[in-house]
Amino acid sequence: MGDLAQTTVQTALRAAIARFHQAGIDSPTLTARLLLAAALNKPREWLVAHNDDPLDAAQDNTFERLVARALAHEPLAYLLGRREFYGLEFIIDPRALIPRPETEMLVERALALLRAPLQDNDPQSEAGCVDAIDVGTGSGAIAIAIAKHAPGARLAATDISAEALEVARVNAAQHGVADRIAFAQADLLDNTPYRARVITANLPYVTTAEIEALPPEIQAHEPRAALDGGVDGLALVRRLLSQLPAHLLPGGAAFFEIGASQGPAALRAAAELLPSARVRLDKDLAGLDRVLSVVTPN
Ligand SMILES: C[S@@+](CC[C@H](N)C(=O)[O-])C[C@H]1O[C@@H](n2cnc3c(N)ncnc32)[C@H](O)[C@@H]1O
Repeated sequence: MGDLAQTTVQTALRAAIARFHQAGIDSPTLTARLLLAAALNKPREWLVAHNDDPLDAAQDNTFERLVARALAHEPLAYLLGRREFYGLEFIIDPRALIPRPETEMLVERALALLRAPLQDNDPQSEAGCVDAIDVGTGSGAIAIAIAKHAPGARLAATDISAEALEVARVNAAQHGVADRIAFAQADLLDNTPYRARVITANLPYVTTAEIEALPPEIQAHEPRAALDGGVDGLALVRRLLSQLPAHLLPGGAAFFEIGASQGPAALRAAAELLPSARVRLDKDLAGLDRVLSVVTPN
C-alpha cells in the first residue's frame, strides 16, 4: 500500500505557511522556507528543486519543533542561531540581544576614528590602554566587527551578563579575533583598568514603560537586561558618561546608540556631565536621532 501520509518538502512547507498565516507571524512563506532549510541543513534554494523529496521522521520532528517555537513568537535569529551584522555572521541565541542594523553606525564611527593617525604623545603602551572599548557588548557584534576591520587593533569589551559574554567569546573565536579582544564581566566600566581613544556603547535604552508595549518577539524572548534603560531610557547612558573621564583618552570619542526620541535629553546629559567635551547627534538612515558622539579635548 502506498504511504499517502508521507510528509514531503512541499506538504511540510504548505502546512507551516498556513499555521503561520493563521497566527499572524511575519513573512510566513519566507519564515517557513528558512526554518525548513535549517531543519534539513540545506541552503534555502535547495528546497525549490526538491518539492517532492520526503522528510524522514527526524527531519519532520526538527522542523515541527522550529515551527512551534516560531508560533510562540521566538525571533527568527534565535531559531536559526545566527544573524548577519556588518557583513559578518554571528552565532546568536537567547543569552544575547540580536544585533540590529542601525547599530552598524557605531562600528562606522569607531573605524573612522581608529583609521585617523595617532598623536605623537600616544599613551597606547600604558597598562590597560587599548584602541577601543565596547561597553555592553552582548553577542560581541560591535567589538568583533571593529577588530575584523581594524587589523591589529586591540580592544576590551564588557558586559554585566556572564551569559552574553559566553556568546561573545564564541563569536570572537569564530572570527579569529579572540586574541585581540579582552572580554570582562563588569558593570559598565566599573573596576576595569581600560582606557581607549574610542568607546562604543549600545546600552539598554528602552524605557521601562515602553518594554510592555514591545512586540512579543522582543519582549518575551530577548534578555530584559539588554533592553531596560530605566524610567527615561538613559540611566545607563548617564552612568557611562560620568565614567568617561577615567576611561576615554584625551582627544578620544565615545559613541552611544540612543532611542529616536532621546536625542535632546541625551545631548543635555552629555553637556551637563562633560562640559568641556564636544557633543553631537547623528541620524540613522530613517532620519531618526540614533548616535550621540562625545569628543573629549586634547
Ligand atoms: C542593547 S544590548 C546591546 C548588545 C550589543 N552591544 C549589540 O549592539 O547587539 C545591551 C547590552 O548591555 C548589557 N548591559 C546591561 N546593563 C549593563 C551594565 N550595567 N554594564 C554592562 N553591560 C550591561 C546587556 O547585558 C546587553 O548585552
